[in-house]
Amino acid sequence: MIHTFQSINELAVSLSEVVIKLARESIRAGNPFNIALSGGSTPRVLFEKMVSCPEDPGLWEQVNFFWVDERCVPPDHPESNYRMTDETLFSPLSLSYAHVYRMMGEEEPHTEADRYEALLRSQLPAWEGLPCFNMILLGMGSDGHTASVFPDQMDLLYSGRICEVARHPGTGQQRITLTGPVINNAERVCFMITGAEKASILASILEDRRGSEKYPAAHIKPAWGTLEWYLDEEAAHLLKVSGS
Ligand code: 6PG
Repeated sequence: MIHTFQSINELAVSLSEVVIKLARESIRAGNPFNIALSGGSTPRVLFEKMVSCPEDPGLWEQVNFFWVDERCVPPDHPESNYRMTDETLFSPLSLSYAHVYRMMGEEEPHTEADRYEALLRSQLPAWEGLPCFNMILLGMGSDGHTASVFPDQMDLLYSGRICEVARHPGTGQQRITLTGPVINNAERVCFMITGAEKASILASILEDRRGSEKYPAAHIKPAWGTLEWYLDEEAAHLLKVSGS
């Protein structure tokens, strides 16, 4: 399902309403709501919209927050995905952090990947032997990467591990990332993608063109859950069918 919006602001309002609705339904039914967040710049606007949830201020205290990936830097580092989320979502909400399960980018990467894998296995319900998130929010880089799975590390899309250590091909920065199987095991996966620089790769992926398989984002195909694309008009401008 493709959703296209005139602006990132409209996109963020719509997606935040979906997150709020799903979290509320899950929690009101007495179930946990386990969501994994991506980093980068695009989610900032979404997190700002999620803060303003006047009709249910206590909702976010009951949601379990996890990460899709993290840069191997300390939590106060400008490139930390945790820091970005804390500044735009948790701190404005004065959250208790009791349900915040961050990836510890400051630790030895392989040790942390092991720890986080064990944490997910203990905290999340399993489906087909793999942890199952209620929702995973993904972005896509202008090289077609998603999470921290880059085009030169496609094996991470089919890894037997839940968490792996990756490396940014340009900067060499180490990352901790969820792998393909656990992402594709989620109940609902939502891409949030903006900007004209991503339009041609996005069109290649969404129109299943030959060669699109070289982009990691093309391999996100939930095994049983749903996949949705939240796009701004710039990112969607090359699509033959641009959705609702
Ligand atoms: C990260 C992300 C990464 C991100 C894309 C898009 O840690 O960088 O999780 O996968 O989603 O790079 O980033 P932008 O939203 O900044 O374009």
